[in-house]
Amino acid sequence: RIIPVILSGGSGTRLWPMSRPESPKQMLALTAEETMLQLTALRVQDKARFADPIVVANGAHTEMIETQLAKVGVTPQALILEPLARNTAPAIALAALAAPDPASPLLVMPSDHVIADEAAFEKAIAAALPLAAEGWMVTFGITPDAPETGYGYIKIGEPIGAGVHKVARFVEKPDRATADAMIASGDHAWNGGIFLFRADAFLAALAIHAPAMLAAAQEAMAAARRQGTQIHPDAAAFARSPDDSIDYAVMEKAERVAVVPVAMGWSDLGSWDALHAISVCDADGNVCDDNVIAIDSSNCLVRTDGPRVALVGVEDLIVVVSGNDILILPRGDSQKVKQVTEHLKAQK
Ligand code: GDD
Ligand code: MG
Repeated sequence: RIIPVILSGGSGTRLWPMSRPESPKQMLALTAEETMLQLTALRVQDKARFADPIVVANGAHTEMIETQLAKVGVTPQALILEPLARNTAPAIALAALAAPDPASPLLVMPSDHVIADEAAFEKAIAAALPLAAEGWMVTFGITPDAPETGYGYIKIGEPIGAGVHKVARFVEKPDRATADAMIASGDHAWNGGIFLFRADAFLAALAIHAPAMLAAAQEAMAAARRQGTQIHPDAAAFARSPDDSIDYAVMEKAERVAVVPVAMGWSDLGSWDALHAISVCDADGNVCDDNVIAIDSSNCLVRTDGPRVALVGVEDLIVVVSGNDILILPRGDSQKVKQVTEHLKAQK
């Protein structure tokens, strides 16, 4: 069976004021009653195909993660609690080392993405599985619709199986001109940040391309404190790992990397605009919480965790109320929320 590996380490500052260090994006209910973490875990619930997940998370969120998963009936086989963040490559290394069988295929998934078409996702996993079993590292290439510079791109190479292609090249976070050219080429996909590979294939690639990272992860796991399903990797050893993403540390360099192109209603929900874009709007194009009154207003996104919000005669606004903070900005500009969180950081 496939072991889902759920990465829950990000802080998601672009959805401020709802996402904060103590309640990052994956812990929020943004698209449904369930939180993004719960939706991710529920997506791989079919016990015929998936084992219980390995969750790799920031140790500061232990209680919230356990509570949220228990609420939807998910019991992780291991909850790896990082003492400090070293980005995705070391986090996945910890998970690969925790896999009970080194030949197990791992399905690595961010905990904070939307996948609207789950049937398409399942088909893509089925297409990837035979190659992953042979030792290939398989990524999922999202059909792109804009020259986003915040994503990685994959150039789709020659076919090597039904629905599976060689990766001709990886381009992580290009500049705008490069992104434009790749979209125009028609043979590039976005890297969805979702991977399927055998635990031993990933560890072997680390041994070649990031040996210091592998050594640090091995030492951190060898000296880990275990308590039930909780695994607390040794902090001093893990701190010795270089800080790097799977994309830069492994995927860009490794041999035998494949891609399954897939259109599955994917979004990484990287901004309030992205949430508006994937949400079902009312007749006026508004997306509002229950206690919002919208009069003569259109194309707005309003989220509030308490106070009532009334809009009168406005359009294209994003309004988010959370705790003592209120965010108001024009739709289309929500990437600028970063400036707010940077400002707040500088004030501290
Ligand atoms: N456990 C753990 N520890 N998880 C982490 C850590 C960490 O140190 N750092 C990041 N994560 C989790 C995040 O919570 C997120 O779910 C996922 O790993 C990806 O990390 P991001 O920080 O969001 O990566 P990115 O958005 O810059 O880029 C990646 O994702 C894009 C798609 O959203 C890359 O894979 C890009 O190529 C890709 O296009
Ligand atoms: Mg991301």
